Amino acid sequence: MQHLDPVTTATPDTAKPAILIVDDELGPRESLKFILTPTYQVIVARDGLEGLEKFEACTPDLVISDIRMPRLDGIQFLKRIRERNHDIPFILITGCGTVESAQQAVRGGAFDYISKPYNIREIHEVVRRALEAAREKRETHSLMDELRQVNTRMEEQLADMEKKATVGELSAEMIHDLNNPLCVLQGYLELLKGSIHSKRHLPLDEEREFLDVIREQFDRCIRLTRSFLNFARQPGLQWERTNVNDLLRDTLNLLNARLKEKRLKLELELAPELPVVWTPRSSLQQVVFNLALNAVQAMESKGSSLTIRTRLVPAPQPGAPPEIELSVIDDGPGVPAAIRERIFEPFFSTKDKDKGTGLGLAICRRVATSLDGELTLVSQEGEGTAFHLRFPQRETPPTNAG
Ligand SMILES: Nc1ncnc2c1ncn2[C@@H]1O[C@H](COP(=O)(O)OP(=O)(O)O)[C@@H](O)[C@H]1O
Ligand SMILES: [Mg+2]
Repeated sequence: MQHLDPVTTATPDTAKPAILIVDDELGPRESLKFILTPTYQVIVARDGLEGLEKFEACTPDLVISDIRMPRLDGIQFLKRIRERNHDIPFILITGCGTVESAQQAVRGGAFDYISKPYNIREIHEVVRRALEAAREKRETHSLMDELRQVNTRMEEQLADMEKKATVGELSAEMIHDLNNPLCVLQGYLELLKGSIHSKRHLPLDEEREFLDVIREQFDRCIRLTRSFLNFARQPGLQWERTNVNDLLRDTLNLLNARLKEKRLKLELELAPELPVVWTPRSSLQQVVFNLALNAVQAMESKGSSLTIRTRLVPAPQPGAPPEIELSVIDDGPGVPAAIRERIFEPFFSTKDKDKGTGLGLAICRRVATSLDGELTLVSQEGEGTAFHLRFPQRETPPTNAG
């Protein structure tokens, strides 16, 4: 016949904190219940297994459990509770000979222990402290959650702002770039118009040649605007299967006019064996564009060269597959030793207000981190600067990819 315990369920007073008391001995269990009932909602169970069932059913605010019990003892019970809920305060009851294991359990995650026979004042004090500590922990957690949410929102806003800053610089480059082919187009269209409207027609061959140039320049404009729009339209952190070499060629398209104007040489050393990998494509483009633009802005003398290199390099951890290294190397003035650490700070810039936002390298560092990679600087004053972005080859997108 089943033994009916009159108070195995909680008093329906939900405003009071709920305490689950687990003890196989009726006397201590009932006296604890008697001590705590006026102040708390009390639930009782006769061993660890029943304690677990009651715990699942009632989610109490505090658990008080004996150590020595049949079926599932207090220490095992505590372990099982911790697997379900990390924060619930847990108080152990010690009898003779179990003080040591109670002390051990406290080190392993129990809040405290009380000893039999009970001291009413001590029990009330320990319970009050345990509930208070749990409340503080809950408050800290919800504060942390709130902070985490604020942080996520700020990161999104920052990514958005960084993107806009790069789009701003890019559009300035694109407009500058478009100017050249548009002027050429205008010139050749005028020539053709002249030929059509005057009596002295140009030879057909020559007209065809003009049309070819027009077509070429027209294609160039389309390529430029397409590269720009591809970049500007992409949402910030979209992960895509990417051919890093193609991405480089595409992005550098936007700097061609500036390179030509400054008479700088562009050298591409792209490793043909580079695998197609998952990357946040538009973020990687931001890195390439910002590093290359910095290099172009830094190099003054004609004949200087900008080298863009990709290669596979050994991973820092032994046994891991080789990583991708993307380097932007210039033979410009170099970064003075005194500012080598500061250049990565947001808004740090040595340029005029209309030339630099100071965001470029901060963006690059953040993207490096999001790739689980690293961005390093090697520079010699007067000899040049190299930025190396190294990141692991990803064959699948990260689980939290947006
Ligand atoms: N390739 C480079 N050569 C020399 N100095 C550089 C180079 N790249 C970056 N810097 C320095 O780092 C600073 C910060 O760069 P960045 O974060 O891109 O901001 P910004 O280009 O808007 O100034 C630059 O102002 C410049 O002083
Ligand atoms: Mg910059």
